[in-house]
Order: sequence, then C-alpha cells, then structure tokens
Amino acid sequence: MDLLSFTDFAREAKVEHELAAVDVSGQISLCKVVDAVDFFRPSVIEHLRCVGQEPRLHNKQWEYAQQLEAKKRYFRPGGRIAGLGCGCETTIPMMAEGAEEFVVTDLYGAKGAWGDASRRPDDLWPHVQNLKVVSMDMRSIALEEASFDFVSSLCAIEHVGFADAVIAVARQAGRLLRPNGVLFLTTEFTFDDRAFYAPGHPSGTLYLSHRELRRLFTETGLHLVEPLDLRVSTHPLNMPVWDQVNNKLFPNLPHVLYRNQPLPFWGTYAGTVSLVLSREDHGNDRILQDPDQMERLKPLFEMGRKLSRRLTLPTRWW
Ligand SMILES: C[S@@+](CC[C@H](N)C(=O)[O-])C[C@H]1O[C@@H](n2cnc3c(N)ncnc32)[C@H](O)[C@@H]1O
Repeated sequence: MDLLSFTDFAREAKVEHELAAVDVSGQISLCKVVDAVDFFRPSVIEHLRCVGQEPRLHNKQWEYAQQLEAKKRYFRPGGRIAGLGCGCETTIPMMAEGAEEFVVTDLYGAKGAWGDASRRPDDLWPHVQNLKVVSMDMRSIALEEASFDFVSSLCAIEHVGFADAVIAVARQAGRLLRPNGVLFLTTEFTFDDRAFYAPGHPSGTLYLSHRELRRLFTETGLHLVEPLDLRVSTHPLNMPVWDQVNNKLFPNLPHVLYRNQPLPFWGTYAGTVSLVLSREDHGNDRILQDPDQMERLKPLFEMGRKLSRRLTLPTRWW
C-alpha cells in the first residue's frame, strides 16, 4: 500500500476533502493537534527542509517543525535552552544554534531509557560546541530553577506514568523558566473523553484527553501563549490506521492521526498535540473544541478502521 493507492482508497470511500477550505498560508498555531493539512504549510515544509527532510506526513516531522517554529517565535539568541527526554532528536543541532548553551537530557545510559536514548547526542554531533548532555530522569528535574529561556520536550512526558505524574513533570519544567521564557511541549492526544493508558516497554504511554491538557495550564503555574485548538479537518490523509501499520509495516502511509490498538477491540484514536506555555498569563487559557467533531470524523475513522483491517491481523482489529 502506498500513498497513491491510499488516496484512491479515500476517494473510493468518498471521504470529504477539506484542503481547499483550510487556509495554509497563514501562521500556524503552536497550540494545536496535528493535521494532515499542516504538512502543506510553507513554514512546515521550510523547517523540515532545514533538517534535511521532505514532508512525508509523519507526526514526528510535525513535532520537529512545531519545535523549530516555536524557537523562531519565542527564543532570543544568546539565551539558554533545556530539553527533556530528547533522545537523539534530529533537530538538536538546529536548536543549539544561537544558544549560549543547550542542555539536552534523557535517561542516557540509565535503566528505562528508550532506544532513542541509546546514543548520546554529543557522540552524534561532536561539532556542536554548546551542547551539554545530562543523564536525568525528568520526574526529578535536577537543573537550576529560573535559568532557561526555552525548555522543550517532544513526546516524552507521556511516558512518566499517569496523569498526576505528567502534570508534576510539567510543573517542574515550568520552574526552569526565566521571565518571558517558554515551555514547548508535544505529547500524545486521545480523541476520547478520558485519558487512555497504553502499557508498553520500557514504559507505557498516557494519551492525554482534553481534560489532562487543561490541567497543563490550570495546575502547573503555566499559561497558554495562544488558545489550544483541538479541532482537526476531515482531510483524507488524516485517516487513522493502527499506528504500527503506518510506522513500520507501510512507512509510505501517512502517520498523522492514528489508532493505538494494544489489544483487539481495545484502543484509542490519537494524534500529537503541541503546546507553548509560559509563566506569564497572556489571557489565552482556553481550549477551542468543535462539539460536532466526533460526528464529523466518524466516516474518516470508519474508513481508517476498514483500511487497517485490510492490512493487519485480527489481533489488531477494532
Ligand atoms: C518517544 S521517545 C522521544 C524521544 C525524542 N524526544 C524524540 O522526539 O525523538 C521518548 C523519550 O523519553 C525518554 N524518557 C522516558 N521516560 C523518561 C524519564 N522518566 N525521564 C527522562 N526521559 C525519559 C525516553 O528515553 C525516550 O528517549
């Protein structure tokens, strides 16, 4: 299955195509859920090309583009940056550019580290002079408070445990910020009304619902720099399949919205969400939701289910 037959599948399925209705020329929000339409935005394409990639509709790419855009908007050269659960993010050299220091942390060499952290970024990029690699468990942040202008974490906080643990990490991360500093986060979002915990190795994943996302700006001492937009389009490339289908088995399929499916008939529709938070209150602490969203997305999710069944064993069906 490739991208072309996928779009044929969507056409066959008569999934409504919304690209024309979405203006991709404007500035992208940094507090939003991933959307296939975002990959058509010139700024996203430009950031991906800076890290040597062409858009292939994978939400990891979207995280990179959002992170680089957040740095462009909120970071002033000469400031200090910290990263939590960084692994070997492709963007590390770009993030370090212009910073006094970039302190990159993960469980490097420690128990519980993912494959992503099996190598140290200073081994991979020895020429990046201002990189400081620290092995640190983010559940207990051992960096000086109020000493960073930009703190970033890409899809890592959802691996520290259940909701209270995630909120506690965000609270600690917020304390690292100097005045006017920002915390840039990406994490996993579930379209369900409640959080979804998927067990896994070396750690499980908590998919945050709108409720836990709200806690990130009501219980952490942090505030949104712009309202959090949880609305997504019904663009056919948002069609969710089992995440291992588009991540591993058929890497040419889009991995934008997807289905986490630990057991037959037990799973959740998900996507990635990004947020920019600051200690200052900008009056933007609200979530933008479409009450009819699940109804609108129903045909798209149903088509994703059918396509997934064509491509997987019944053990992953829903
Ligand atoms: C899905 S990977 C993401 C890696 C990297 N941020 C990226 O986007 O490529 C999750 C990362 O979180 C790290 N991690 C998990 N639990 C952690 C913890 N308690 N403290 C620090 N890092 C943790 C893992 O080692 C892994 O590198």
